[in-house]
Amino acid sequence: MGKVIVMKHPLIQHKIGWIRRTTTGSRDFRGIVSEIAMLMCYEATRELELEEIEIETPICKTKAKELKGKKLAVVPILRAGLGMVEGMLTMIPAAKVGHIGLYRDPETLEPVEYYCKLPEDCAEREVFVVDPMLATGGSAVAAIRMLKDKGVKNIHFMCVIAAPEGVKAMEEAHPDVDIYIGGLDERLNDHGYIVPGLGDAGDRIFGTQ
Ligand code: PRP
Ligand code: URA
Repeated sequence: MGKVIVMKHPLIQHKIGWIRRTTTGSRDFRGIVSEIAMLMCYEATRELELEEIEIETPICKTKAKELKGKKLAVVPILRAGLGMVEGMLTMIPAAKVGHIGLYRDPETLEPVEYYCKLPEDCAEREVFVVDPMLATGGSAVAAIRMLKDKGVKNIHFMCVIAAPEGVKAMEEAHPDVDIYIGGLDERLNDHGYIVPGLGDAGDRIFGTQ
């Protein structure tokens, strides 16, 4: 059974307060989302397995620890997930990056798929799907379904803000996936926006509105 982990780290909470503010412009918004992703990555990778290897320092042979087995991949859900990639790669520079393009139909709130390009060996990797917002959960559920259809088994989902409705949808559709959340909000409004939330993450990252 996957875990739902809401981040408690004070730096993450402080930075989320800044991106929620209407007065935070695109440049700062982008920078802070990236910093949050970096901090969340640090927290979300706590349980990666290590193995002991032998290395040689300039002084002598010794034992060191190395990440065991599976290599990692980061898969942002376009567009807003792109804002989390740099922060993730700062922590895990060797990770490969796949892209899944989905947008939410504004009328039905259903996800519409328009792009999917994954690393060739994605099925063998431990995959972190990233998207700042988990609202109805439609986009995350569909993205993870796409990954599973391509044989990916080890999947984690990271979002900056989640609504309880989205968490429930994910738990029902993908009970095996761990969910890492920066801040768990109150609810969705009638337009499917998270309350209090931060507005439209893609528009705020890319300055499109
Ligand atoms: C936003 C957000 C998520 C989705 C969350 O993307 O980045 O992908 O909405 O909503 P859901 O949980 O109800 O599916 P959007 O569809 O606005 O596309 P964009 O990133 O291209 O702006
Ligand atoms: N997508 C966003 O960008 N913001 C929300 O509040 C909900 C979905």
